[in-house]
Amino acid sequence: MQKKILVTGGAGYIGSHTVVELQNSGYEVVIIDDFSNSLPDSLKGIESITGKKPFFEQLDLCDAAGLKLFFNKHKNIAGCIHFAASKAVGESVNKPLHYYRNNLNSLMNLMECMIANGVEPLVFSSSCTVYGQPEKLPVTEDAPILKALAPYGNTKQICEEIIQDTITSGVKVKAIALRYFNPIGAHPSAKIGELPQGIPNNLVPYITQTAFGVRKELSVYGNDYNTPDGSCIRDYIHVVDLAKAHVIAISRLINGINKKPYEIFNLGTGNGYSVFEVIKAFEKASGKPLPHKVVPRREGDIEKIYADTKFANEELGWKAQLGIDDMMAHAWAWEQYYRKATHA
Ligand code: UD1
Repeated sequence: MQKKILVTGGAGYIGSHTVVELQNSGYEVVIIDDFSNSLPDSLKGIESITGKKPFFEQLDLCDAAGLKLFFNKHKNIAGCIHFAASKAVGESVNKPLHYYRNNLNSLMNLMECMIANGVEPLVFSSSCTVYGQPEKLPVTEDAPILKALAPYGNTKQICEEIIQDTITSGVKVKAIALRYFNPIGAHPSAKIGELPQGIPNNLVPYITQTAFGVRKELSVYGNDYNTPDGSCIRDYIHVVDLAKAHVIAISRLINGINKKPYEIFNLGTGNGYSVFEVIKAFEKASGKPLPHKVVPRREGDIEKIYADTKFANEELGWKAQLGIDDMMAHAWAWEQYYRKATHA
């Protein structure tokens, strides 16, 4: 019988790509999403890629009673992958209470339902933001956690602690936290991808929207960093590679081959690219110049970060396969497909 996985936030960017990979790996998927930062279109996209319609329920995970009812209906869930969360760094500074309430309550409600229903495996969506600007690069999983610069990052740190403390208390939950570096790109089919609401904060959606003519030009936040070309360096990872790591992580827990009840992995490629290098890679993929100008640094940006991928490579048997050229080509294909499909 197919094992059933609950994916919270499964209509969102990383969630939808993970649903595709779970279905392709033979799992049955049930999705909970409140569409606060996603659209029903992504569910259609999933179905058109895999030919399988995932079960979907529109629900806010802060609705504890609604979540209990959901678990009463779905008695045989084998594991949960928890994406549902608010994720805009800047917005979190202006709406801290919303971020703490939403991100913490969602996780706690989910874990309470899991425990009450004997569902043990949990994969949690965390972020490299927990490291701040690390002293040593590439950054390993045991690097110190630094005080978060924004409430968003703090919610990721606190959520990791909630999971740790719950497991330490002796209840039967086992978990893997995946600390993502910078997820970009889209499904190669261009049927699903990132759907930023309003003006994008993140680099790649801003680039693709600029290339499509939705934005006038990209602002490069600073060229006076201590890096070879002066712009910030990040470890960009293709969202499909990231999605595949989730399938491996949940399978590891379901099959009981995890080494500890709570494990943490960095998910990156191990390669750092500067903002100017990303722009060049995009120009190569799209075949046209990208209008951009240098502006002052963005507050809160760290200079450079990239992952040490050894632990994930060795323990999960996972390695990112797709490079920066694929990331750019797929992000660009998605932007064009989505704009044409929606006439936006
Ligand atoms: C942020 C979050 C990270 C989150 C990620 C994706 C922090 C420290 N990081 O990463 O946790 O997972 O978003 O949601 O909270 N840039 C420009 N011009 C732009 C936009 C970005 O030059 O218009 C530059 C930035 O200065 C940075 C790089 O591009 O150097 C990447 O920025 P962005 O895509 O926003 O991601 P991060 O800030 O690295």
